[in-house]
Amino acid sequence: MDRNRVYFFDTTLRDGEQVPGCQLNTVEKIEVAKALESLGVDVIEAGFPISSPGDFNSVVEISKAVTWPTICALTRAVEKDIDVAAEALKYAKRKRIHTGIGTSDSHIRHKFNSNREEILQRAVKAVRYARKYVDDVEFYAEDAGRTDNEYLARVVEAVIEAGATVVNIPDTTGYCLPEEYGSKIKYLFDHVPNIDKAIISTHCHNDLGMATANTMAGLLAGARQCEVTINGVGERAGNTALEEIAMIIKSHKDINLTSNINTSGIYPLSRTVSNLMNMPVQANKAIVGKNAFAHSSGIHQDGVLKDVSTYEIIDPKDIGLDTNSIVLTARSGHAALKFRLETLGIKLSDEQLDKVYADFLLLADKKKEISDDDILMLAGADKKLEQVVKVDWLQATSGIGMKPVASIGVDIAGEKFEAAASGNGPVDAAINALRQIVRRNIIINEFTIQGVSKGSDDCCKVHMQVEHEGRHFFGFAASTDIVTASIEAYVDCINKIHSL
Ligand code: KIV
Ligand code: ZN
Repeated sequence: MDRNRVYFFDTTLRDGEQVPGCQLNTVEKIEVAKALESLGVDVIEAGFPISSPGDFNSVVEISKAVTWPTICALTRAVEKDIDVAAEALKYAKRKRIHTGIGTSDSHIRHKFNSNREEILQRAVKAVRYARKYVDDVEFYAEDAGRTDNEYLARVVEAVIEAGATVVNIPDTTGYCLPEEYGSKIKYLFDHVPNIDKAIISTHCHNDLGMATANTMAGLLAGARQCEVTINGVGERAGNTALEEIAMIIKSHKDINLTSNINTSGIYPLSRTVSNLMNMPVQANKAIVGKNAFAHSSGIHQDGVLKDVSTYEIIDPKDIGLDTNSIVLTARSGHAALKFRLETLGIKLSDEQLDKVYADFLLLADKKKEISDDDILMLAGADKKLEQVVKVDWLQATSGIGMKPVASIGVDIAGEKFEAAASGNGPVDAAINALRQIVRRNIIINEFTIQGVSKGSDDCCKVHMQVEHEGRHFFGFAASTDIVTASIEAYVDCINKIHSL
C-alpha cells in the first residue's frame, strides 16, 4: 500500500443528499455516480438502504452501473439495517458496509440512554455481524469530534479487532478546531495498538467553516481516507468539499500526499451536481465558485496579465474550467451548443438537444452572450415533470407612485382560467392573482432569487420552498424576467403538490 495515498470517499449521494429540497431520483444518482467514477473517487457512499425504498433502489442501481469504485451503504449498528444494506449491495463489484453508533457521552446518554461499555459492545457486535456479509466494513464513531479520546481509542481498537477495515472519526457537529481534530487522530495513532490494521478516515462537517481545515489536519496526522461531497453539499452548513481537498493535495507538493482524483473532471461535476440538486454554488466558493478565478481589482488584473502565477495558484484548466471557451450567441449552431454541453458534463439525446437548442435561441434573442451557467440552466430546466398547471400568459405592472397589479391566464389540465390582483410588488400581485385560481392553502417558507451571471439582461434562478398540509415542496424556475421566474417556481411547487 502506498502510505501517502489518500482515498477519496464521496458521500454526495448519502450525506450530501440529506439536504431538504436536494433529493435526486435514481436516474440522477446514477448520472452522478458515473461521473464520480470518471473523476477517480475510490468509494461512493450510495445511500442508507433501510431508510427508504428509494434509497435501497438507488444503492442497487448504482451497484449495477458502476465498475471500479467501492460502493458503500450506510447502516446503524442494528442487524436489520445491516441485512438490508447487504441485500442492496448484491450487485456491487466491490462492496462496503458502513455501520456505526454515537460514542460521545451526549449521544450515549441522550440518544441511547445507555453507557460506554454497552455502546462498545454494540459497536463490536455490529462490525462482526457486517463482516459475515462483506470483507470491507467501515465503522463510524458518530460525534467522535466530541468523544473523550481515551474512550474513543478503546472503541477504535475493539472494532478493528472485530474486523473493521476502515474506521471513520466524524466531527458530526463541525465543532472541532483543526488543531484539536488533528491531535485526536494523532492520539489514536499513538494509543491504538492495532491501528495499522485499518485505514483511519476523516468525516468533517462545516458548521463553523472548518471542515476543510479539519480534514487536512486529520490527513496530516495520518488519516488516509477523507469523506467529502461535491461542492461541500450536506446537511446544515455541509460537508468537506471534495474539490478543496483534491486541489490542496495537488497544489501542495510539500505535504507529499497523492490521490487518484482526475481533477479536470471537478468543474463539470460541480455544475452537474449544482443543477441536479437545484443548489446554487456560492460565487466566492473556493475552486468552483464563479469568481474563484475572476480577478477584478486593477492591481490583480495587471499582475495576472504580466504573469498568471502572480495571483493564481491553480491553473483553471486543472479543474476542467476552460477559460478560453467559445462564447455562444444567437448565431451559434447545434454543434457548438452540443460541444459546450458536453464540456460541461451534460450529454443529451438528439431530442433533448433539439428542445434545449430551441430554448437557447429564445434566450439568445434576449441576451447578447450566453454563459455556461445559462446553458446549464437551460439543460436543467428540461428535467421538469409533466405539468398539470401551466401559465398561458402573465402581465404585471409596477413602478413608482402606482399600485402593482398583475393578471394571469392559467391552463389546468386543459381548462382555461383568468384572474387579476394587486400586491405589494409585481411578484406578490402575480402570486395573489394565481391564488385566486388555485385555491389551495400554500405557505411560502423560502423564496430566493439569484442572478445566473451578470448584467441587466441576466437570467435569474428562483428557488422556492412551500408548505402544504404539513408537507414541504420545492420549486425552481429560471427566466430573464423575475416575475415570470417567480410565478413558474410557484407553479412548479403546485405541480409537485398535484403529482402526489
Ligand atoms: O456526520 C456523521 O457522523 C455521519 C455518520 C453517519 C457517518 O454522517
Ligand atoms: Zn456526516
